[in-house]
Amino acid sequence: MKSLRILGIETSCDETAVSVLLVSKTSVTVEQDLVSSQIPIHQKYGGVVPEVAARSHVPETVSLITQALGGGMAFDAIAVTSGPGLATALRVGIEAARVLAWLSGKPIVGVNHLEGHLASAWLNPENRKRWKFPLLALVVSGGHTELVLMKDFAKYRIIGETRDDAAGEAFDKTAKLMGLPYPGGPQIAKLALEGNAEMFLLPRPMMKDPSFDFSFSGLKTAVRLAWEPWMKGPTERQEQAKRDLAASTQQAIIDVLIDKTTRAAKKFKVCGVLLVGGVSANEALRTQLAHRLEQELPVVAFLPSDRKYITDNAAMIAAAGAWNLWRGKKSDWKKLDADPERSL
Ligand code: KG4
Ligand code: ZN
Repeated sequence: MKSLRILGIETSCDETAVSVLLVSKTSVTVEQDLVSSQIPIHQKYGGVVPEVAARSHVPETVSLITQALGGGMAFDAIAVTSGPGLATALRVGIEAARVLAWLSGKPIVGVNHLEGHLASAWLNPENRKRWKFPLLALVVSGGHTELVLMKDFAKYRIIGETRDDAAGEAFDKTAKLMGLPYPGGPQIAKLALEGNAEMFLLPRPMMKDPSFDFSFSGLKTAVRLAWEPWMKGPTERQEQAKRDLAASTQQAIIDVLIDKTTRAAKKFKVCGVLLVGGVSANEALRTQLAHRLEQELPVVAFLPSDRKYITDNAAMIAAAGAWNLWRGKKSDWKKLDADPERSL
């Protein structure tokens, strides 16, 4: 099969990213992989401000595309994130992609951001070797917590999702409560290393529920109540309480994620489990899920994303674009628009 050179563009949230991938069914060469993060810009607001994100994407998108293509048009197709995400931020990437599609006459495909995260695991050659359908994916990010059954490339069924907050949000909100900077996940993970996860008794919401859905808003309330007595406490003891609460919260989130994922992997008799999305950077989650699968389902392959493709990037968008093009899914550049609530 002929390789396709795909230009990938991602502007759904707080990273502007552009990549060029040479893709066939058996090989992937990442020729360009550029990411410009807005995290420092949003840090002073304690979270992503949509209008600020969109405005910051404009100069960055133009600059990264110029850098990646060197002013030329050496690509066979364009893949751009069309949702889910922030409407105004998504539109920056989409408009740039539409102009390029019009100028080049090449096909364009609007990629689902979550499908991009699924494809991030496929970018690893070791994972590609063990890639066999059906697969189960745990997608955990700042906006999503989903269990996805993959029957083939670009063929999915959501078997469980969060009914309120996403796992990443639970990390971020806990961090904010304790006065830690955005994004909270890495801060909580760092503090948790020196904390005792058994010090605070926190709920494991919906863990025993037979569905594969999640809920984290109750946990947020429990964390707030647990933290209240410590808010004005003596500084040194407060610092230890912070570490213990970070460890306890992290473990509560991980327990629920792992329990449901293992149960779903058993029920749907999958060949592999993907772990993708921003929260999959969490070392405790990675090790504990790998361990649990090894213990209970040793024939199931554990396929986590490479660290560099965990956070939002355009290589994963270009790869997911290839999956869609293989199935004949293309978009019309004249009609392509942001779909902020797009689901898989
Ligand atoms: O996928 P992502 O980069 O952006 C989207 O939401 O699409 O995910 C960001 C989320 C944030 O909530 C962040 O706090 C969380 O991933 N995160 C982590 C870790 N690193 C990032 N959560 C837990 N532990 C980490 N080490
Ligand atoms: Zn993402």
